[in-house]
Amino acid sequence: MVLVAPSILSADFLHLADDVRAMEEAGAQMLHVDVMDGHFVPNLSIGIPVIEELRRNTDLLLDVHLMISNPDEMAAQYIKAGADYLSVHYEATNHLDRLMEGIREDGARPGVVLNPHTPVAVLEEILPKCDYVLIMSVNPGFSGQKFISTSFEKVRKLKALIDARSLEAKIEIDGGMGPENIREAVESGVSMVVAGSAIFGSQSPQVAFRQMQQAADEGVALTDNDAISA
Ligand code: DX5
Ligand code: ZN
Repeated sequence: MVLVAPSILSADFLHLADDVRAMEEAGAQMLHVDVMDGHFVPNLSIGIPVIEELRRNTDLLLDVHLMISNPDEMAAQYIKAGADYLSVHYEATNHLDRLMEGIREDGARPGVVLNPHTPVAVLEEILPKCDYVLIMSVNPGFSGQKFISTSFEKVRKLKALIDARSLEAKIEIDGGMGPENIREAVESGVSMVVAGSAIFGSQSPQVAFRQMQQAADEGVALTDNDAISA
């Protein structure tokens, strides 16, 4: 099962509840929530008060992506606000091991995010403590950017690392994803796909969500068939 996680960064902030409801009706199970501090990335988005409101108003899983310079100080507060999944950038902390353990102890699923320039090899020691790894397929900070074409190759390398050690970590991809490339993402090993502008920038976000989910499920079917014939 592949989770398509609509990114509310591209939603209508003045009518956020409507957009969340639309995603629930379309069958989404998870929302992706981008937190930017104007320091780690050159943009600001939303923070704790909005996450608290989301938590009060939906049962969807909240996948919170922290693009902030001080995740060590703030992670616990984002979990308290309602994050189910919490990812922090490898590039933003010197104490990833402690942070992954802290996130789990505080009751959320810990994830590590890699910027496009950061190789998957840096995860060798920390992978057993990650529930997921988020591969950025754009430079973080903005929605609507072009997918970086080498990202699936990076996903395949990560998948090989995970499989070689029989680990459980899931692979998520974020940036420039849409109906046209989601199937290749799934075939490469991705099981969580973030999409912002492809969903909320389309005429019908519900139709766009369903198209992506369907294309993802077809990718899974194809991968399963490969496994059977191999
Ligand atoms: C970018 C964010 C993404 C963003 C993706 O820094 O992390 O989650 O919402 O937007 P699209 O899908 O439009 O590239
Ligand atoms: Zn994100």
